[in-house]
Amino acid sequence: MTSSTTPAPTPGSVALITGGTGGFGRALATKLKALDVTVVLADLDSERNRQVADELGCPFVVLDVSDRAANAAVVAQVEADHGRLDAAFLNAGIAGKSRQALDVDEFLKVVDIDLFGVVYGTEAALPALRRAGGGSIVVTASLAGLAPLATDPGYSVAKGGAITFVRSMAARVIDENITMTAICPGFADTAIIDGIRQTFIDNNFPILSAEEVADAMIAAWTSGEPGAAYIVQPGIGAVPYKFKGVPAAKTATGETAGVPGALRPGSAT
Ligand SMILES: NC(=O)c1ccc[n+]([C@@H]2O[C@H](COP(=O)([O-])OP(=O)(O)OC[C@H]3O[C@@H](n4cnc5c(N)ncnc54)[C@H](O)[C@@H]3O)[C@@H](O)[C@H]2O)c1
Repeated sequence: MTSSTTPAPTPGSVALITGGTGGFGRALATKLKALDVTVVLADLDSERNRQVADELGCPFVVLDVSDRAANAAVVAQVEADHGRLDAAFLNAGIAGKSRQALDVDEFLKVVDIDLFGVVYGTEAALPALRRAGGGSIVVTASLAGLAPLATDPGYSVAKGGAITFVRSMAARVIDENITMTAICPGFADTAIIDGIRQTFIDNNFPILSAEEVADAMIAAWTSGEPGAAYIVQPGIGAVPYKFKGVPAAKTATGETAGVPGALRPGSAT
């Protein structure tokens, strides 16, 4: 997926971005607005966040993604104000900062926002996407969900969970013309790396721009493969991660056992 080959979203489409006033959210909103997409930014309530949305020319809605009911209320507001929802970018997230080997309070907080925020956002967006005749959910996960991040286990668990959620949900909604994908960026230049940016600079370690990640998010919307997790890394762009799969069970006579049809996606059980 590259920006030069990416189909553009249909002009007049409506997109919601959670964590919308952060680094990726701003870059994505700027690009989508230039493509004539109506962009609603949802984020925590602050004067700064309202001002960012104002400067971008986007409507702002207050949302704490860890509040399940609030996710539904925000989607209802988007539909009421703009008539439809075509794409939900479930992008809000925090990283842990604790230096303890295991800080369970922080772990739970990160999982609440970075994983359950995605589950609640999906629950809220699906009915609206169905009403629009289909659409897309793009989850901002992380490379830390594919490779363990020893400095932040809660973040790795939450992002890994978000990727697995996308992969398992994608098959359930594809028949409704709804595509779910995950974006898995490496380190990128936004506020979330404020505490470690200098280390990257000192070690001449390449980091992504927010714009590169935003390009991958748009490509995931318009041409993403259902259930794909797109790695975004400096120098390689956005590429789908190839999951290895697991060994299949063998029958008593040594043949490979296929999963029974009734347990496959789309079957009525
Ligand atoms: N920058 C990176 O290196 C990097 C790499 C991989 C993945 N990510 C992920 O990208 C996403 C966007 O992060 P970013 O890099 O733009 O950082 P950022 O800190 O600039 O933006 C994160 C945004 O999420 C919002 N947010 C935090 N908690 C929230 C909550 N409970 N409800 C609603 N909004 C909330 C923040 O207010 C902020 O606007 C996050 O999910 C992050 O984990 C970032």
